[in-house]
Amino acid sequence: MKIAMIGTGYVGLVTGACLAKIGHRIICVDRDNAKIETLKRGEIPIYEPGLSELVTKSVAKGKLEFTTDLAEAVQAADVIFIAVGTPQADDGRSDLTQVEGAAKQIAKAANGSKTIVVKSTVPVGTGRRVGRILGKHGDDHEFEVASNPEFLREGAAIEDFMHPDRIVIGTQTEAGAKTMRAIYAPFDNGTLPFVMTSLETSELTKYAANAFLATKVAFINEMANLCDATGADVTELARGIGLDERIGKHFLQPGPGYGGSCFPKDTLALTIQAQEADTPTRVVESVVLSNSHHIRRLGKKIADFCADSWGVDRKLPLLGKRIAVLGLAFKAETDDIRSAASTVIIPLLIKQGAEVIGYDPQAAEAAAEQVPFLQTTKNMDEALDGADAVVVLTEWQVIRDVDWNRAKHKLASPVVVDMRNLYDPHTMAAAGIHYASMGRPLIEPDLTPSPKLVSVG
Ligand SMILES: NC(=O)c1ccc[n+]([C@@H]2O[C@H](COP(=O)([O-])OP(=O)(O)OC[C@H]3O[C@@H](n4cnc5c(N)ncnc54)[C@H](O)[C@@H]3O)[C@@H](O)[C@H]2O)c1
Repeated sequence: MKIAMIGTGYVGLVTGACLAKIGHRIICVDRDNAKIETLKRGEIPIYEPGLSELVTKSVAKGKLEFTTDLAEAVQAADVIFIAVGTPQADDGRSDLTQVEGAAKQIAKAANGSKTIVVKSTVPVGTGRRVGRILGKHGDDHEFEVASNPEFLREGAAIEDFMHPDRIVIGTQTEAGAKTMRAIYAPFDNGTLPFVMTSLETSELTKYAANAFLATKVAFINEMANLCDATGADVTELARGIGLDERIGKHFLQPGPGYGGSCFPKDTLALTIQAQEADTPTRVVESVVLSNSHHIRRLGKKIADFCADSWGVDRKLPLLGKRIAVLGLAFKAETDDIRSAASTVIIPLLIKQGAEVIGYDPQAAEAAAEQVPFLQTTKNMDEALDGADAVVVLTEWQVIRDVDWNRAKHKLASPVVVDMRNLYDPHTMAAAGIHYASMGRPLIEPDLTPSPKLVSVG
């Protein structure tokens, strides 16, 4: 099938490349000229494992093209996916300007009947709104509108797209459902569930999925804080509840609060739409609150632990101290820093007078642009050199693999606050490190002097 993908961001590019891999002919469109020029040169504007190879192969086979000319792409296609951004507006709602703009452009460019698939995450009712825009601006052409939310995770996007748990499709007619089934026919192995439903249910399913996952994250973070206060261990607690199949073991790792380009904006948009429908979602409202409290209290947790470890007063202990932050992206294997914990926690440290040097293998530049006074590096040793304390925010493998027996010799003071529970507290204590994590008991470090290492390289 000939498909145009409007919006070549994290979702549009991955969806385009994966649909090309299963045999469709895809034209990816973006209004960002620099992005399209980069793609035409064979480079990938984002970091996503495996994407470069996939794009290169599909381009070579003539299955994948890039353009800024939306009209040309629309005219050449039978099906048009809208995968543009739906960022959070100032009032917390989902900003639909890009979706509505794309719908209008599609309508004006259309040269015949088309199926328009909304892949962007949109509030209930948007598909019908898109239908009205198409009807108003699209001459007499027939437009079929479908909803097909995306559940991929950045960092594992290709794996997720190619091996989905389910495909959710909302349509208004049998013909629309048939077209959508045909697009995904290569995935139809007889066992993959296709949830065929209405536009409304499909749109809301995406929000409900994100809200549920965010609830699990907020819940386990609250349990971790309670463990910290009571001496219980959240890792064992998570195992203890996660083995109950009704609960499930996924999404029970405590961390610095959920972030990224989806959960924060989607949970908030859901609560607002629910309030407007006079059916408030009190659980999700609490999750939004809980998450923002959780992130904000981490600034104090870091400062208090540093003060106690350094043996100084808890009042303004970070003033003039050098803090290394390991991991700036909102999660591992992505360069995305949208609503990353780093963008909230680092300003809290800087506000307390700390000098912060952040390390990330992929997101250093983006973070430096967004967070005032943050210095960044792609070289972890440079960040650790002379640091008074280390804060771990992202679970990159390279950060997981740090050998603290060696790395501690780079630090001015062996203090590590780990928001991802990447290391074993006993091993850290044995290495002589003051180590705090999330919801796991503190263990006094072994501070007996060890023979000095000759080289720490
Ligand atoms: N990023 C994720 O992990 C993820 C996962 C599932 C769903 N989603 C949803 O998918 C949608 C896209 O997210 P994203 O992260 O890919 O966004 P993004 O900001 O990375 O990409 C959106 C792209 O659309 C382009 N664009 C906007 N209007 C356009 C127009 N009229 N014509 C051509 N191009 C246009 C922008 O230039 C941009 O490159 C959002 O609704 C998001 O909530 C995202």
